[in-house]
Amino acid sequence: MKTRVLTGITTTGTPHLGNYVGAIRPAVAASWRDDVDAFYFMADYHALIKSDDPARIERSRLEIAATWLAAGLDPQKVTFYRQSDIPEIPELTWFLTCVTAKGLLNRAHAYKAAVDKNTEAGEDADAGVTAGLYMYPVLMAADILAFNANKVPVGRDQIQHIEMARDIAQRFNHIYGREFFALPEVVIEEQVATLPGLDGRKMSKSYDNTIPLFAGGQKHLRETIMRIVTDSRLPGEAKDPDSSSLFTIFRAFASEAESSAFRQALVDGIGWGEAKQVLFERIETDVAPMRESYDALMARPAVIEEILQEGAKKARAIAAPKVAELRDAIGLRSGVAIAPQAAAAKAAPKSDKPPRFASFRDGDGSFRFRLFSGDGEELLLSRAFADPKAAGALQKRIKQLGDSAVLAVESLSLALDLDGEQVAVTPTYHDEATRDEALSRLRAALDQLAAQE
Ligand code: TRP
Repeated sequence: MKTRVLTGITTTGTPHLGNYVGAIRPAVAASWRDDVDAFYFMADYHALIKSDDPARIERSRLEIAATWLAAGLDPQKVTFYRQSDIPEIPELTWFLTCVTAKGLLNRAHAYKAAVDKNTEAGEDADAGVTAGLYMYPVLMAADILAFNANKVPVGRDQIQHIEMARDIAQRFNHIYGREFFALPEVVIEEQVATLPGLDGRKMSKSYDNTIPLFAGGQKHLRETIMRIVTDSRLPGEAKDPDSSSLFTIFRAFASEAESSAFRQALVDGIGWGEAKQVLFERIETDVAPMRESYDALMARPAVIEEILQEGAKKARAIAAPKVAELRDAIGLRSGVAIAPQAAAAKAAPKSDKPPRFASFRDGDGSFRFRLFSGDGEELLLSRAFADPKAAGALQKRIKQLGDSAVLAVESLSLALDLDGEQVAVTPTYHDEATRDEALSRLRAALDQLAAQE
């Protein structure tokens, strides 16, 4: 059996070398494996929590889709889609929201960090915190659980979110009494490198120290690499490869042999400028062909759109039946599938109480009665009588009918005929199956009444 691997990519910002090495490249490689059924999607609903700039959201979605495709993602093999094209995800988010403890969300790192920051600044604890940020983990759980993903590869900062998804899944399973959701497992890629950025700290948009993957083209890539901070050793002086960002980045692209040659060159005193050129050329060898397809894709957004629409179709073929199953399980059922009366009768514990009549006066002063089952389901409504005694006489006769009762099947109801005259009718049912079930309950009730006589 294939393992379903799923991960989301928040569509803010423009992909950089750190994203490529740390997330895109390993994910693309994993998607080629035959034992993996990969689901990769753009978390553009999550992006809205971080950005309210429509142009940026639009651009980032496009750039990120093009990046993943250019990096070798095969949309035939992988289910590649946008979160916002799957309406089942926000629907499931609400179902999960209703079983998620608020206290669980209070403990989410990102929310707590915002609260701590506010508290330190003497502000209201929730100042500037949207409900979107607060709900972030539930939306993420829905992303995962809608597809029953087994493995979720993420960065370390996301571990808590996967744990919360498991928590929420377990709670839902427990409340509704079935294993609706597989419990997702977090996968941390230990061997993938985290790249240092221009200043030596982890490459990250929040440090503004990134080297772009495609943006700006070859020239910009080279210029940015030339800005990597080094120590002040001169050409001819030995450099320490293990404390050099250049070497760490180089190694993330190169083979063992290439890496040891570069290490030797540094030890032998290659100048930093020259070393940066070596690094640039090595990266460019990998990036150039990808950049070419990236540019081609960016020039034809309609092609990307078509690929994503195909992906959404594949994804919805899985999420839609899942959510339909859940709707049914939680009681959001079609009124047509089960008539309210039948549902009540099914749900109520079977009592041994005998059927009973209930008489009443109609608005126009006439007399009628209903026959109820012991469970309280309405079985029959009599015709109107001017004289209450006539109504009472009919009740008496009905009690004696037993299996001699003549029940005429109307389209979605039944009628009781006596002496060729329709004297009582059942409620209208929502479909024939429900009507037929009601018929057998009515027969049983009439038998029970006759047995008492
Ligand atoms: N929150 C993730 C991140 O910032 C992105 C994401 C959204 C995700 N939904 C997901 C990752 C579902 C894995 C599974 O990296």
